[in-house]
Amino acid sequence: MRLLFLGPPGAGKGTQAIRIADRAGTPHIATGNMLREAVAAETELGLEAKHIMARGELVPDEIVIGMLVDRIAHEDAVAGFVLDGFPRNVSQAEALSHELGDDRELDAAVLIVVDDDEIVRRISGRRTCPNQHVYHVEDQPPQVAGRCDIDGADLFQREDDREEVVRNRLEVYREQTEPLVAFYRAHGLPIHEIDGVGDIDDIELSIASALELA
Ligand code: AP5
Repeated sequence: MRLLFLGPPGAGKGTQAIRIADRAGTPHIATGNMLREAVAAETELGLEAKHIMARGELVPDEIVIGMLVDRIAHEDAVAGFVLDGFPRNVSQAEALSHELGDDRELDAAVLIVVDDDEIVRRISGRRTCPNQHVYHVEDQPPQVAGRCDIDGADLFQREDDREEVVRNRLEVYREQTEPLVAFYRAHGLPIHEIDGVGDIDDIELSIASALELA
């Protein structure tokens, strides 16, 4: 199955995409995570992306498309994948469909819908560990405050989760990423629109049912 997750920052794409990838037995491929790993490793790509990400802008297409194309060429992604955070604009979507060709077409998209006030509330309470495990101080707290349940590392707040940056990320989403919904509709891709407000397990079940993975 080849799926992609769409939706504003903080909608819960990462939270749900990991679960759905697990059900489908495919890799979860998140360009935001890949870029943050590159920033942490201080690679050339990471150094270029760091300040752009901190402002909440999109990293240039030529960097992100190359990175994604390399990743989906790996053997584990040949039969399927769940994309999270890619594509972010129409030129990335066109590059993806060119790369996949006719024999590896996308099967569906999941669009998670959440209003802006809830997004700001969620993002300001998000805490992340260096290995990208995600928590929320109220909704999804770790067992020990400030510590990752999985690897025991200290949790921190992402630099781009400051309120003024979140507002910019929302604007970038509306201008550049939201038009993808019309783009994919026009191309006949099934888009499953899911209410992203509510219990995380219930939302997972709604998505899995829509994709016949329940
Ligand atoms: P990226 O990492 O992709 O960020 P994003 O799309 O802004 O999405 P988020 O990670 O903020 O949110 P999410 O929807 O995954 O929500 P989550 O599950 O964490 O991108 C970051 C940056 O990288 C971009 O700004 C850009 O600079 C760059 N970038 C990445 N890809 C790019 C590309 N293709 N092209 C160019 N640049 C690119 O949930 C959020 C919080 O809510 C968590 O705390 C979670 O615990 C909580 N939560 C989740 N579900 C629920 C629920 N149902 N109820 C209550 N709380 C919930």
